Amino acid sequence: MGLFDRRVAIVTGAGRGIGRAEALLLASEGASVVVNDLGGGAAGDGADQSPAQQVVDEITGAGGKAVANFGSVSSFTDAEALVQQAVDAYGQLDILINNAGILRDAMSFSMTEDEWDAVIDVHLKGHFATTHFAGIHWRARSKESGEPVNGAIVNTASESGLYGNAAQANYAAAKAGIASMTIVTARELERYGVRVNAIAPVARTRLTEAIAGDHMKPKENDFDRFAPENVAAVACWLASDLAAGISGQVVKVQGGVIQLLEGWRPLTEATADKPWTIDGVEGVRDTLLAAADGSIPPFFFPSPDS
Ligand SMILES: NC(=O)c1ccc[n+]([C@@H]2O[C@H](COP(=O)([O-])OP(=O)(O)OC[C@H]3O[C@@H](n4cnc5c(N)ncnc54)[C@H](O)[C@@H]3O)[C@@H](O)[C@H]2O)c1
Repeated sequence: MGLFDRRVAIVTGAGRGIGRAEALLLASEGASVVVNDLGGGAAGDGADQSPAQQVVDEITGAGGKAVANFGSVSSFTDAEALVQQAVDAYGQLDILINNAGILRDAMSFSMTEDEWDAVIDVHLKGHFATTHFAGIHWRARSKESGEPVNGAIVNTASESGLYGNAAQANYAAAKAGIASMTIVTARELERYGVRVNAIAPVARTRLTEAIAGDHMKPKENDFDRFAPENVAAVACWLASDLAAGISGQVVKVQGGVIQLLEGWRPLTEATADKPWTIDGVEGVRDTLLAAADGSIPPFFFPSPDS
């Protein structure tokens, strides 16, 4: 018996990197998987069916169940067709892993409209489009049966988005938006029995190889800390019934460390019983900034000993 026997999953951007590892792990645990990938370049240019098809061949070659989908997650038409393909091929949808992504880094003063739009389109709209159509499917199923559907969404955020990495205003805005959307949709879909969580991964893929260089290579006498498979385990745990009751959360995975991340929340408080004035705010600055002592998470890339 596999953990995902009789479960039907979509993984977006599953032709390479983290998504590929997620699709393979789901399938090895018995899920029927729709392997979505547009197959473009790391910046989102072009299209190629071979990455998604290769993952499908790998899964079916090992005795698993998978079909390929070559649509773009940033298109509502393609996202609707993607959910419909899961239903047509396997009868329903249970798990949606939103993972597809690209990078077009530039400092905010140099970033072009195209660079902004492309990244927001693939990540933020790409998460929303699939979630929208999966939500329609789950809502209809739940209303028809009168039962919760036991569905799960796992989104893909990023530390870079949540903590802020220079030259990634587009990516950070999208990833922070995805983290917030995770909370919103967790609240919306709870009534239909759907959990929504996100991961903030760090892994060796084509998106990080150029930047992180040797740091992410496997080291002797250690496990392969930055293998995409290491991230896939966390995503698939969140997607599984083992994580029942967990929703609206963001879990970071980097090497051998997993962390529950917390979003915007009040850190300190200063109060007044009269209208605020500029001088009044200045008067409580020490109270307001009391906790701004460097405890703010500083960084995106892994430290050498992680
Ligand atoms: N690798 C890391 O350390 C890291 C860190 C933080 C977040 N992430 C996120 O993890 C996710 C996976 O990234 P990865 O590192 O595996 O990169 P990757 O480039 O190896 O894989 C991303 C896949 O998404 C596909 N894709 C791109 N645009 C698409 C579209 N419009 N529709 C369908 N598929 C599309 C690509 O073809 C590619 O195969 C991304 O969302 C990325 O932002 C990765």
